[in-house]
Amino acid sequence: MPYLTKSNKGMGAVATTLYAGVEAVKRGLAKPIGSYTQMGQLRLGKRTENRVKFVNELVPLASLDQIVFGGWDIFPETAYEAALHAQVLDKHLVESLKEPLSKIRPMAAVFDHEFVKRINGPNVKKGKNKMELAEQLRADIRNFIKENNCDRAVMVWCASTEVYTPPTAVHQSVKTFEQGLINNDPSISPSQIYTYAAIKERVPYANGSPNVSVEMPCMQELAQEMATPISGSDFKTGQTLMKTVIAPGLRNRLLGVAGWYSTNILGNRDGEVLDDPGSFKSKEVSKTGVLTEIFSKEKYPDLYGDLHHVVRINYYPPRGDNKEGWDNIDIFGWLGYPMQIKVNFLCRDSILAAPIALDLALFMDLAGRAKMRGVQEWLSFYFKAPVAKPGLTVEHDLSVQLLKLENTLRFFTNEELINHLGLTYYGVDEGEE
Ligand SMILES: NC(=O)c1ccc[n+]([C@@H]2O[C@H](COP(=O)([O-])OP(=O)(O)OC[C@H]3O[C@@H](n4cnc5c(N)ncnc54)[C@H](O)[C@@H]3O)[C@@H](O)[C@H]2O)c1
Repeated sequence: MPYLTKSNKGMGAVATTLYAGVEAVKRGLAKPIGSYTQMGQLRLGKRTENRVKFVNELVPLASLDQIVFGGWDIFPETAYEAALHAQVLDKHLVESLKEPLSKIRPMAAVFDHEFVKRINGPNVKKGKNKMELAEQLRADIRNFIKENNCDRAVMVWCASTEVYTPPTAVHQSVKTFEQGLINNDPSISPSQIYTYAAIKERVPYANGSPNVSVEMPCMQELAQEMATPISGSDFKTGQTLMKTVIAPGLRNRLLGVAGWYSTNILGNRDGEVLDDPGSFKSKEVSKTGVLTEIFSKEKYPDLYGDLHHVVRINYYPPRGDNKEGWDNIDIFGWLGYPMQIKVNFLCRDSILAAPIALDLALFMDLAGRAKMRGVQEWLSFYFKAPVAKPGLTVEHDLSVQLLKLENTLRFFTNEELINHLGLTYYGVDEGEE
């Protein structure tokens, strides 16, 4: 694996791996592995009916050849140059996709170095205040749709992780937020300006980073007002994906956990950005919430009352996009006897994230057409820190999240919802809902 240089080019690793991947699949060069919309199947009706359908046959999703990609970045190079630079995919594959990838040139970004301290680039918009920048993004969206003859658009945030910004007074309502945009309120981050612009254009918005945006009351209010779906936050890919598989298993067996130590080495630009303590704080918040919820110490003080959860990310350039994550889990069982589990996941960050970005784009588009508005909790399956309506606890267990997703697709298509009770097979009347 060649070393990545510190120079920056074009769009991000996740975005270019998504674009290149879709183009490769369209040309029959590779399979869309990891994408539920492309490969997933679900059961319909009773088990005795033996009725199984592919997800994309059950619900009317846009097909890959109907998609046109576009985006913004602070670096102006095309997706072809950026994909070569990211070094996620083989040079040979990227070269074979040069023609479609060269057509994707990033629009000028809304950027503020205060929010992403490790990078700076020239392809940036100027405006007299943040409202004017939002207007420019809105105009970009309208132009893109028009120039590419699109029926609809979806926005998936795959840009850098910003410095952690908890909500302030300005984020409490649409009115205060809009005033904040006009007043250039310093607590409004670029990603929030994109979120606002998307929702105002009735473009469904999914947040793939841990940046705080769709969680904020102003965005949830605006999404209701504009009848637009929103979802987030932070793609659930490597280590957290494993956590939401292993942790519910331990809890379901009532095994105690004294500590969970997670560390990562990562050498891509995301790793470089996360090397800044402010950006890392955003990631730490989204990564640690998972275990707090699954191992509720209020419900199980004997099992999880003293849980120590530590998450570290170390920027280590030689690894590029090929992250290595280690987990040491100190568990205890019957009569308190201690045991350990070690997980060493040698993963590829953007290879895991790209299919999630694709699924979110297709499902968010579907949600828009199904007249869903506001937070789309049924898409929690894809996020490290899923957003739910205020007051509702969040579901982190991956298999429960999948059941929720599947049942929502059944609901959209008037298929029977499946509760896995299964007593009717044994002659017990389950009664009406
Ligand atoms: N497995 C994964 O790769 C994974 C998992 C979960 C979340 N994420 C998140 O997805 C995001 C993208 O990850 P990546 O590996 O592609 O990172 P990357 O650094 O390769 O790409 C991010 C891109 O965003 C651009 N950018 C920064 N601020 C911008 C702005 N305001 N407007 C427009 N462009 C801007 C950067 O120039 C860069 O090209 C990060 O926030 C990351 O934390 C990634």
